[in-house]
Amino acid sequence: MVRHHERGPYRRRRPGGHLVEHELHDRLDDLMRDPYPHYARARAAQGLVRVPELDAWLVARDADVREVLRRTADFSSAGALRPDVMPAPAALAVLGGGFGGRPVVVTSDGERHQRLRAPLVRALSPARVAAAVPYARERAAALVDGFVADGGVELMSAYATRLPGEVIGRIVGLDPADVPLVVHGGRRAEELLFRPLPEAGQIAAAEDVVAMQHVLDRCARDRYTHPREDLATEIVASVSEPGHPELPLEQRHEAVAHLQNLLIAGHLTTTALIGTTVLHLLGHRRQWELLRERPDLIPAAVEEAARYDGALQGFRRTTTRPVTLAGTELPAGADLFVAFGAANRDASCHPRPDTFDITRDTPARHLAFGFGAHACVGAQLAREQLRVTVGELTRRLPDLRLAAERPVTMRPTMIHRSPEELHLTW
Ligand code: HEM
Repeated sequence: MVRHHERGPYRRRRPGGHLVEHELHDRLDDLMRDPYPHYARARAAQGLVRVPELDAWLVARDADVREVLRRTADFSSAGALRPDVMPAPAALAVLGGGFGGRPVVVTSDGERHQRLRAPLVRALSPARVAAAVPYARERAAALVDGFVADGGVELMSAYATRLPGEVIGRIVGLDPADVPLVVHGGRRAEELLFRPLPEAGQIAAAEDVVAMQHVLDRCARDRYTHPREDLATEIVASVSEPGHPELPLEQRHEAVAHLQNLLIAGHLTTTALIGTTVLHLLGHRRQWELLRERPDLIPAAVEEAARYDGALQGFRRTTTRPVTLAGTELPAGADLFVAFGAANRDASCHPRPDTFDITRDTPARHLAFGFGAHACVGAQLAREQLRVTVGELTRRLPDLRLAAERPVTMRPTMIHRSPEELHLTW
């Protein structure tokens, strides 16, 4: 039996924004850029391993990850998105002028969670996603048109950060002119809450987040008085009662919180997976060539990329009472980092787990989109965009390759894992 240890000497969150331990922060960056050796050690250990860099117990084996995701009463999602950095008071004051800050689907438990999830499941049903695919195809083609004659491109800025925002923006019902500001605001929210910025940088990031929230508030108020056939209207309806002359203030906050969460969940993750998928397909040349000859393998290639190097490496859970997991006793209130990315390299489920192989027999048994009550509601939408992207690139740029002189660095993040930049030539 492995005993619970008290918290280590590290505290990474403190009002004022900076990580207290610079050395710890550097180690966290290293871990985030390449978490796989840490995962391997945690999978091989007896019981659970506490990782100071993550300030949490690392849940790394497939069976243990599934057990946590099944036992929703014992492992709460309330802290699923716990920030790594607490913003400085001046940045918090800027955020105070915005909207949102209410619990959302991914940070709710029990009956409230089911209530918040239901409209999203309806809005992202297979039929509604299928109806969005022609638009995704049209936009993917137009984005490739923009650089196909250039002989080279930085794919993250020219394509990967753009397609998912345009697609989820259309489903939500945003004015296309507002999409770049909303995409930028999402990225800045991640920086503010997960990267150590100097105070002036935090204030600037908070201003960008608030600008995004005002756009979403405008959209929510408009849909209350002028409903349309879009997801924003459904979200507003799910948080409000009809009959007021305009959307009441508390419901404006709620609607913005849900819209912001959905938009961020919908574009940053998909952007990230587009980047890693193209990186690994081009980094394993024979598989790229196979895909050019056999487009029927595209869905399997997308699943393998999601398994091998997923965008969302893990989310947090907190114990609601003393529990035993993998033989380790945990007290109530213990933080766990539930690593989908580690489970996806578990040899007991995936033979040769560290090999990227698009011809696997059962590629879809991975946990890249979660599992159980909180499983990703947008998985099908993400998959379709990935398939469209890989189809478009293999068809129109068959000689695509990684630019040899531009080595790839991964972004230091556990929630949107992707290359910082992806320079390609043909
Ligand atoms: C490659 C892209 C994506 C990846 C890797 C991904 C991954 C995940 C994972 C692992 C979870 C489970 C979180 C947990 O258990 O706490 C999740 C939940 C969620 N995802 Fe995705 N996702 C992606 C795309 C999308 C898209 C396109 C949307 C929306 C259009 C979306 C919306 C959501 C929402 C709302 C939840 C919360 C569900 C709940 O708590 O019940 N995701 N996602």
